[in-house]
Amino acid sequence: MATEIKTIGVLTSGGDAPGMNAAIRAVVREAIVKGKKVKGIKRGYAGLLQEEIIDMEAKDVSDIIQRGGTILQTARCEEFLTPEGQERGARVCKEHEIDGIIVIGGDGSFRGAQKLAALGVNTIGIPGTIDLDIACTEYTIGFDTAVNTAMEAIDKVRDTSTSHERCSIIEVMGRGAGYLALWCGIANGAEDTLLPEKYDYDEQKLVNHIIENRKRGKQHHIIVNAEGIGHSASMAKRIEAATGVETRATILGHMQRGGSPTCKDRVYASTMGAMAVDLLCKGKSNRVVGYRHGGFVDFDIDEALSMEKTISPYQFEISKSLAI
Ligand code: ADP
Ligand code: F6P
Repeated sequence: MATEIKTIGVLTSGGDAPGMNAAIRAVVREAIVKGKKVKGIKRGYAGLLQEEIIDMEAKDVSDIIQRGGTILQTARCEEFLTPEGQERGARVCKEHEIDGIIVIGGDGSFRGAQKLAALGVNTIGIPGTIDLDIACTEYTIGFDTAVNTAMEAIDKVRDTSTSHERCSIIEVMGRGAGYLALWCGIANGAEDTLLPEKYDYDEQKLVNHIIENRKRGKQHHIIVNAEGIGHSASMAKRIEAATGVETRATILGHMQRGGSPTCKDRVYASTMGAMAVDLLCKGKSNRVVGYRHGGFVDFDIDEALSMEKTISPYQFEISKSLAI
């Protein structure tokens, strides 16, 4: 029979994402409403190994739903990649009487949760990353805020690009995935959108496209480039030399990870946080929460981690056809 859950731990791991605080708040308050104790683990798995563990009450999560970042802080932890680190993590949970742990993070963090579950700690994962690169879910905490932040920044670059009749290459985050770039490409009406999943490294095509657009009277040429391709500054130099069109590169960087979460990120993160607690209370473990086909769902972590996700070929096609 599954152990009765009396105390729930919560941590954030990997890159921070706007909306993580809304998820933490929901975990703490849903757990308290269900009569459970909550322990916050600081700095992800690193804090678990260092026993940076605090008791959390409802008031500890007051005034955070609107704040970006994560009040629990986050980290990447090499030691947790080792079996010894994972065993120590499971031992720390037992010593602190944590019966179930909720891990808010990306795929890597879920792998850590999977290891803890195998060592007898009940775990539930919540997808938190601005990259949207988790296969089992169409939504990840932070993507909506980050993509809106990037879109607004690109609008601003476009104003100055048009005034100076320049080509602008704007690099957005996403690690190896092109979701942020694709959404910005469509939302900003970029002339070219370069995605790691699709790019053929044929720069001559870009050059020809810029020259054709100039002939047709376009006053700017916006290229949204994904971090997974990178090299925006050197690309800008080569493009300027080949086209004669003044070209600038802007790397948006970490500003995309900050800021107050959008309504969607607050509501979805709150729902997922509460759902994670409910799953633990029902005796579930080794599961991740997701959003699919219009509803909140949960999957076995092993199954979730074996799924693959691809860029929508149709959306990639329209990112090009709508930019004529
Ligand atoms: P994300 O969760 O955003 O994908 P990372 O891949 O950096 O970010 O993973 C965050 C942390 O999760 C790592 O620093 C490590 O502590 C833990 N982790 C990642 N992969 C594994 C793994 N295979 N086994 C155990 N822990 C892992
Ligand atoms: O995973 C989120 C993310 O912002 C990626 O888009 C980016 O590649 C990475 O984290 C940057 O990590 P760091 O903050 O360690 O530089």
